[in-house]
Amino acid sequence: MSDTEVAFVTGAAQGIGLATAERLAQDGFRVVAMDRNAQRLQHEAARLSGLGLDVVAATVDVCDRASVVAALDAQARVDVMVCAAGIYNDARFLDLTEDAFRRMLDVNVIGTFIPAQEAARRMSEGGRIVTISSRGALGGTRFAHYVSSKAAVIGLTRAMAMELRDRRIAVNSVAPGFTDTPMTRSAPPEMFAAWEQLEPGGKAATPDLIANAIAFFAAPSTRFITVQTLFVDGGKSLGGLSI
Ligand code: NAI
Repeated sequence: MSDTEVAFVTGAAQGIGLATAERLAQDGFRVVAMDRNAQRLQHEAARLSGLGLDVVAATVDVCDRASVVAALDAQARVDVMVCAAGIYNDARFLDLTEDAFRRMLDVNVIGTFIPAQEAARRMSEGGRIVTISSRGALGGTRFAHYVSSKAAVIGLTRAMAMELRDRRIAVNSVAPGFTDTPMTRSAPPEMFAAWEQLEPGGKAATPDLIANAIAFFAAPSTRFITVQTLFVDGGKSLGGLSI
């Protein structure tokens, strides 16, 4: 078996997942970049390979177990799984539909559970799993379904970590604050600007700042740290919640 550790990153076609794929490849991992957006994923994986990084693309829907299994089984080893795929949309609580709520839970929670479980089953030598929650897990307005999904990710992370610690699998979560990605840029520009003003220092985080925290939990030297949720939000989780 090759000595090079293999890291899988879901949601890697853009935003935080893409920044994480690049960072983990720079850190020496072979990276399997997974996303359902095949076209953008191929483009970004080719760009990173062109930089001399060991990155391969796998088209995966995180809610489709067969596609996750195929991506994992194409590699000789599984050392790290980063579950960064996720969706967000706005809805006032009084208008929120069951369909929107179920879809949010499906992608953000079940879409974390499936890759994490399949990875853990293959981590025969131990490993690290990193989930992506959100500062939004603490609460907020206009997105009760997202808040619920990201609070569930923290619960899932803690439960997985406790069950997997005897198998030497560390499981931690990174909870970003407002970050400049295609997800947040899909909001109208004036709304993005207004949200950004609410951040410490009046600036959104950049995806590489979040990838830095993910890379910390993904590193072999961090394997004794588990069951943790790390808020990466410039300190806003201590107060001034709005989004
Ligand atoms: P993004 O929307 O820019 O990128 C998400 C990626 O996930 C996309 O490439 C999309 O194609 C992929 N994806 C979505 N559903 C998928 C599925 N079923 N199967 C496979 N891939 C799928 O989002 P961003 O901002 O990079 O967010 C990444 C993670 O960080 C998400 O879990 C998000 O909830 C979380 N987060 C983001 C924050 C932000 O301010 N951008 C703040 C806190 C958490």
